[in-house]
Amino acid sequence: MKEQLDLTRLPAHVAIIMDGNGRWAQKNGYDRYVGHQEGAVSVRNIVEAAGEIGIQYLTLYAFSTENWNRPAEEVEALMSLLVTTIHRETADLMKNNVRLWAIGDLDRLPPLSRASLDECIEETSRNTGLNLVLALSYSSRWEMVEATKAIARQAIEDEIKIDQITENTISEHLTTAGVPDPDLLIRTGGEHRISNFLMWQLSYAELYFTNVYWPEFRKENLYEAIVDYQKRERRFGQTGEQVNPKS
Ligand code: IPE
Ligand code: IPE
Ligand code: MG
Repeated sequence: MKEQLDLTRLPAHVAIIMDGNGRWAQKNGYDRYVGHQEGAVSVRNIVEAAGEIGIQYLTLYAFSTENWNRPAEEVEALMSLLVTTIHRETADLMKNNVRLWAIGDLDRLPPLSRASLDECIEETSRNTGLNLVLALSYSSRWEMVEATKAIARQAIEDEIKIDQITENTISEHLTTAGVPDPDLLIRTGGEHRISNFLMWQLSYAELYFTNVYWPEFRKENLYEAIVDYQKRERRFGQTGEQVNPKS
């Protein structure tokens, strides 16, 4: 698959809804937690692959606002897995020149998870390779509410005129300000939905769904998704002729 990739036409930003950990565990007779542990192995594998081929941004949906409503033991297990994974992987992120970012309502994270996240973000902040964005305690609606509040405050304080509000104003107030919109969205685990992920930013993303459970997702699966992406014609509302004039 890797040979089929056109490295000159890579998506600049790949976003992934990493779903299916629980079902993978169930299928194999394990506790759901084992699925999350194995999911962390896939993260490692895919971050490495994305860096190797030269993807600029990789955003991983790791924990949604709605995931706080899961049983307390599962939430706690996920939060401590975050700490151990970050501690274990920071050295490799440094070695691979990966810069870590996080988006979401990070104030809701337990102090220990927040601290190790902040530490890794700081430590990798001078890296210049792949930008790895973790969406944690993230939801698109939460983000839009926050952006709306911030813009409303600016309007009240006369820092911005209502008629000057543009699409850019909104983009700049989202947690992804400065990050190009995803070109390709991958969802593993067989569901065909967005689950409150980057709804504004995904407006023109190419969507790729696979039945593969996240703990089984490997480099080859990523290449396959990108090869599929490269076969598509992105029209952004225009006609095929407009975006691809016949020579
Ligand atoms: C995705 O896997 C990981 C998180 C949402 C944290 P799930 O835990 O949702 O796995 P399924 O969908 O139950 O199989
Ligand atoms: C989406 O998966 C969130 C993450 C992968 C972090 P969910 O498993 O929470 O989504 P739903 O509940 O099936 O829509
Ligand atoms: Mg799920």
